[in-house]
Amino acid sequence: MLARDMIRRITVPLLGMWLCMVVAPAGAGGDPQAADPPGDAIASAHPLATRAGLQVLAEGGNAFDAAVTVSAVLAVVEPWNSGLGGGGFWLLHRGSDGYQVMIDGREQAPGSARRDMYLGDDGEPVADRSRNGALAAGIPGTAAALAHLAQRYGTLPLPRLLAPAIRIARDGFAVGPAYQDRVQRRESILRRFPETVRIFFDDGFAPEAGWVLRQPELAETLERFAQGGAPGFYAGTTAKRLVAASREAGGIWSLEDFAAYQVKERTPISGTFRGQDADGREQSIRLVSAPPPSSGGIVLLQALNVLADRDRRGPPPVHRVVEAMRLAYRDRARYLGDDDFVTIDTAKLLSPDYAAALRRAISERAMAPDRLPDPLPSSEQGNTTHYSILDRHGNRVAATLSINFPFGSGLTAAGTGVLLNNEMDDFSAAPGRPNVWGLVTGEANSVQPRKRPLSSMSPTFLETDSDLLILGSVGGSRIISQVLQATLAFASGEREPARLVAMPRYHHQYSPDTVFHEPGAFSEAVMADLVARGHHLAPASRRYGNMNAIRFDIRNHRLSAASDPRGEGLASVQLAGKNQNGN
Ligand code: GLY
Repeated sequence: MLARDMIRRITVPLLGMWLCMVVAPAGAGGDPQAADPPGDAIASAHPLATRAGLQVLAEGGNAFDAAVTVSAVLAVVEPWNSGLGGGGFWLLHRGSDGYQVMIDGREQAPGSARRDMYLGDDGEPVADRSRNGALAAGIPGTAAALAHLAQRYGTLPLPRLLAPAIRIARDGFAVGPAYQDRVQRRESILRRFPETVRIFFDDGFAPEAGWVLRQPELAETLERFAQGGAPGFYAGTTAKRLVAASREAGGIWSLEDFAAYQVKERTPISGTFRGQDADGREQSIRLVSAPPPSSGGIVLLQALNVLADRDRRGPPPVHRVVEAMRLAYRDRARYLGDDDFVTIDTAKLLSPDYAAALRRAISERAMAPDRLPDPLPSSEQGNTTHYSILDRHGNRVAATLSINFPFGSGLTAAGTGVLLNNEMDDFSAAPGRPNVWGLVTGEANSVQPRKRPLSSMSPTFLETDSDLLILGSVGGSRIISQVLQATLAFASGEREPARLVAMPRYHHQYSPDTVFHEPGAFSEAVMADLVARGHHLAPASRRYGNMNAIRFDIRNHRLSAASDPRGEGLASVQLAGKNQNGN
């Protein structure tokens, strides 16, 4: 556990302008909220997960207990997004003392992984190897993280917390249109793996919405986990079956990799900037988000830093936001990776001087792109899941979990019901070459044994004296820009979760040099202005992301929550004695 007194802070004086930053590259100590919330709230991507989590809270469990239940149910009801075969990040805040920490349950490269394992004989990356099948899968971290959450922060026994997931896996549930859509989009890959077709298809056909998915093998795997804790997954029957499935399919997993996997507690990235509340009063906003091996916190704060401009009042124009995204994603590509393996100069990346230098490079025209090879455009496939939880004691969880691509690597380990992730594609197969998200990364993110691939998952808290927002989203490289847009809206006084999660989105990730935008993201005038400045615009081929957010309006002692209208989720507030649904 990281001691509070180990926390380094770098601060500069507040200047009283919109978005002026007080940079604190690392910080684990949030302030306990002045008042406890009037109830509990959960916003997740699936109604069954939200309801199971609320039941745990109603029985006296805390937000961390509920997080275990919600994660496990999501693993069953959204098998294309997350699961025991994947990993994730859980950002926690303990109400009693304000302690904040990020649980890193990210997948880890197997011990025999090599930096050139995704290169063909010609030295070129072979995308199929890092994206599909056994070689694409890192050692999963979700089970280790859930056991750790329950043991260190929860109050209820693991078997109770996993019971809803076990029941739904065994009894089945009716899949929705999102399931149908993701199977169809990955069908040709999924058909390579007979066990996957046996479990996730309807008698060999891509299922329609309403079909009942039963996962008895996954129920048994969850049962072994419930009874045995982390060793019930990382040793014994489950580990042996997972390793055997990997090896049979040409993978390199070993039992030693499972024995070596450890969940890590990391100090969140945090920083403070100036914005305004819903009534236009200026106030200080603190952002707390994911540290490496996620890039989320650093990229978010760097972009906010670049936008912090003492000479400007009001929200920054879209052109400047796009340029800030471009610059922050460029540094992601250059410098970021698992900082257990590479040195990241976070203080420098987030220093006001560096931000000022980057800001000076922004002109009235779009910046000329650097000379990187043309990446593939992102295919914008929906994947990953995010949920937010707040309990009546002020405990919070923002968690983003993934198996990367929809249905991960496509390979289901026989006898376990566990779909293996394809998170190894988040490593740099070759410096400067794009991954499935069109993202380029460099040497800092090269494959190394037991290293964790750089992520974009960005579970985040926004805190002011009068408000708290718990948020995050899904969508690979586009997660960070979604959270940035929501943060900028929050800083402009928008506080309603329903509006924050529904906002039309736009995205620039440095390479490709393109501003992707959802319908309605820009007015005709803004679009014309961006084009005149030299930006390359492209409509997003589909609406993207699935944000789940909770707001605690401290001043008015009111809770609200919202689940993204793009998804099938449920946000719900549970006040003493009654339920108050969001959307
Ligand atoms: N697999 C997507 C991410 O971690 O960013």
